[in-house]
Amino acid sequence: MAKKQLRVGMIGYGFMGRAHSNAYKQVGQFFPSNHQVVLKAACARDAEKIKAFAEQWGYESTETEWKKLVERPDIDVIDICTPNNMHKEIALAATANKKAILCEKPLAMNAAEGREMVAAVEKAGVPNMVWYNYRRIPAVTLAKKLVDEGRLGKIFHYRAKFLQDWTIKADLPQGGQGLWRLDVAAAGSGVSGDLLAHCIDTSIWLNGRLDSVCAMTETFVKERMHNLTGKVEKVGIDDACTFMCRYANGSLGNFESTRYARGHKALYTFEINGENMSLFWDLHDLHRLQVFDYKDEGKIRGWKSVHVTDNSPDHPYMDKWWVPGLAIGYDASFTHQVADFIQGLETGKPQGPTFKDALETQCVLDAILDSAKGGKWVTVAKS
Ligand SMILES: NC(=O)c1ccc[n+]([C@@H]2O[C@H](COP(=O)([O-])OP(=O)(O)OC[C@H]3O[C@@H](n4cnc5c(N)ncnc54)[C@H](O)[C@@H]3O)[C@@H](O)[C@H]2O)c1
Repeated sequence: MAKKQLRVGMIGYGFMGRAHSNAYKQVGQFFPSNHQVVLKAACARDAEKIKAFAEQWGYESTETEWKKLVERPDIDVIDICTPNNMHKEIALAATANKKAILCEKPLAMNAAEGREMVAAVEKAGVPNMVWYNYRRIPAVTLAKKLVDEGRLGKIFHYRAKFLQDWTIKADLPQGGQGLWRLDVAAAGSGVSGDLLAHCIDTSIWLNGRLDSVCAMTETFVKERMHNLTGKVEKVGIDDACTFMCRYANGSLGNFESTRYARGHKALYTFEINGENMSLFWDLHDLHRLQVFDYKDEGKIRGWKSVHVTDNSPDHPYMDKWWVPGLAIGYDASFTHQVADFIQGLETGKPQGPTFKDALETQCVLDAILDSAKGGKWVTVAKS
């Protein structure tokens, strides 16, 4: 049977442009479906650079203006891999052209933008998803399965951190290629939207709605040279953010993120404590889920390190890869996301996180930044 084509138009060719392209190339080999992904066009402003990228990854054509790309009739899905301040405009234009959309996280600069995007995709009825890819690391997906099976019992605590150290140098400029994350006009916020957004998405998925938050943020380096203006300018992002929260299910949460934790490159960890079971996961050891099960026999009760690489259906996604015991990596989370997106198209049951799901994280981010400004508890707005 001839497969239905899913013709991708990708905007941006940086870190995520490469991660997504790799996933599109892998998905048909490891997760066969009735769809065939076609790398139709890649887009960026620099004609030479995007041409070289397209040749390397196998895109059929290039564009230098994203507005042209979203209007092309030979594109089915627009993949938004650009800085955060462009997500909304591209998503609205793609929606107007009835394209499906895969949008990088965070969904938007703030909840108001996110709401506009949700309203647009829902009105147009276009398939949509946001790349909160950590949900699809098999050990994390297994954690979700254990929570959904009710094994943890009543949940008391959720704690997460995401630590990096790459912005400690005071003479690092802000803005432009590679450094847009330090420029509030391009990023919207600092570590909260960039790193905590992932932690919040995972936590909502595992532990449900956050009701209220109390946060503190700090900008350790107050001024940096701006690459686009050539002038020393005020830094508007949060360099570090710590917050505590109350969940709708009665549990308590605490979160920390910084780019000033010397020695840490991408230390994302979470722990969830329930009355019967606790779970712990660490991105640096991503194929393991640490499990403490109070129901184990007392003599041998203790933390177990589950190597989530069995190819039985017990270990999510792993039956599609190698033989038991062999690990897959960070990149596979993107492949899983594309596979699930296609499954959503084929079954008519959209897979999350949709724009609507991602808006919930955006509401939490707004509440955090608001709380940090006023030093008070803030109720998270309903999405
Ligand atoms: N899911 C994840 O784990 C994850 C990881 C990293 C980044 N992200 C998100 O992905 C997005 C991109 O981040 P990145 O790390 O890939 O950034 P990057 O700086 O590596 O790449 C950004 C790309 O956007 C392109 N771009 C900028 N302006 C453009 C324009 N006007 N027209 C066309 N292209 C334009 C740049 O040329 C570049 O190729 C951000 O929203 C970020 O938050 C998500």
